[in-house]
Amino acid sequence: MKLTAFHLLPLVSFAFANPNHLHQQRQAASSIPPSSSTSPQPSSSAPTSSSAASGVASSSVSSSTVASENPTAVPLASIVVNVPSAPTQIMPTPVPVGSKPSNIPNAPGVPDISTLSPVNFPALDRPAPTDSPQVQQWIQEVSQSGVTIPNIAPNAPGGCVANPTAAVNSSNCWWTCGGCTRNTDVTNCNQKYQWGLTYDDGPAPYTPDLLSYLSQVDLHATLFVVGSRVISWPALVQEEYLSGHQIAVHTWSHYPLTTLTNEQIIAELGWSKKVIHDVLGVTPTMMRPPFGDIDDRVRAICTAMNLVPVIWTRVNSTTTFDTGDFDIHNGLTNVQQVLFNWENIVSNAATMNDGFIVLEHDLFQQSVDVATGYILPDALARQPALNITPVISCLNRPFSDAYIETNDNTSNPLPLASYGGNQAKNGAIVGAAARMDAIVIAAVAIIGAMALTL
Ligand SMILES: *[C@@H]1O[C@H](CO)[C@@H](O)[C@H](O)[C@H]1NC(C)=O
Ligand SMILES: *[C@@H]1O[C@H](CO)[C@@H](O)[C@H](O)[C@H]1NC(C)=O
Ligand SMILES: *[C@@H]1O[C@H](CO)[C@@H](O)[C@H](O)[C@H]1NC(C)=O
Repeated sequence: MKLTAFHLLPLVSFAFANPNHLHQQRQAASSIPPSSSTSPQPSSSAPTSSSAASGVASSSVSSSTVASENPTAVPLASIVVNVPSAPTQIMPTPVPVGSKPSNIPNAPGVPDISTLSPVNFPALDRPAPTDSPQVQQWIQEVSQSGVTIPNIAPNAPGGCVANPTAAVNSSNCWWTCGGCTRNTDVTNCNQKYQWGLTYDDGPAPYTPDLLSYLSQVDLHATLFVVGSRVISWPALVQEEYLSGHQIAVHTWSHYPLTTLTNEQIIAELGWSKKVIHDVLGVTPTMMRPPFGDIDDRVRAICTAMNLVPVIWTRVNSTTTFDTGDFDIHNGLTNVQQVLFNWENIVSNAATMNDGFIVLEHDLFQQSVDVATGYILPDALARQPALNITPVISCLNRPFSDAYIETNDNTSNPLPLASYGGNQAKNGAIVGAAARMDAIVIAAVAIIGAMALTL
């Protein structure tokens, strides 16, 4: 079966001009920037073949130990760049119309998706036009929301290096360049050893393997789904939702939001909310900005559109809780490095007073294999035990608060400032200027074609 949607999927890949920088950066648990999946740096250049494989630290996770905990684990040696596509599980068929998730008592039944058609949505994997009546309506709603959108110009593609003024302007609070957050951002869980489990960029052909493992071990996650993937595999999103996972917004096309105009951001969020609503009958209250690319302009639009931004935990100016799993498939890192990152994440988590949120993905086979075969079995065996839940639950919110239609409206819109209880982290942009010199980000390629044949 040819997966035509994948041929259109932009695969964001990064290359670094100086492989030594990659080496140094990859010694940390992970880095912002240059962290391959955290930095918004689109450019037209092709990625280089420089690979992390040559210079990465070896894993301190005992792979033989963790592998034995999941008998179905894919061998580490098989989780490599350009892995041949393994057979996937059969994609689910649509559930009966009206099915409800058992974890949300007042949820409406899911709608009929047999008539759902991509023709009624924007083109996949690119920012939607803003002149459609639908987007114009959302623009009007935002302008009537009472939320003031700060007058910050869209960033140029290329991240912090390409936008030196914005990168050091603390009043923009641009997370990418220094990790600035506001008290409206969720970046941590409430309690120590609580892990708000998240997977980004799906649903995708290997998502059923992830769902199957999560079900076996009775774990639930927050899934930040991309609208273009939702319209491609709507029945899979229904299965995620009905299995008790939290569905949240990860935009329509996965472009870095700070590079878009206000109207384009509204279209990215609006179409993503709409497609999820058309598939599930409910509208998420949480979103994750692709690449963590958020500033006060994007935050204000999220607030106006009833979306709470969820980033991932950052411990200091150079280290975030990014496993790097996205980059195994393209050879920019390897599985040993990802397990090394995971080990550092757990070590750092042990020093924190609150819980944590980690960046992982279900887009590629490699990241699903490392999650189900190694990271999750290892996490489940940890002492003291990790309390692994969706983000909504680790904030001590009822699951019904994950959706507009089901929250009881005593908290609708959600009381953002109280989220997490520990979110007063208005980030100083510590050392951003100094790091600018050290950071060499050469290229991001949007690769429009991927010869994935199943
Ligand atoms: C920083 O950004 C704010 C908008 O958030 C703008 O008003 C201000 O002029 C900027 N400062 C500089 C030095 O560019
Ligand atoms: C950031 O934290 C990591 C992990 O704890 C540590 O290795 C690194 O030295 C810290 N870096 C800075 C700049 O504090
Ligand atoms: C809460 O308000 C929304 C509209 O903002 C509505 O769709 C929803 O039905 C309300 N929820 C409940 C439980 O009444």
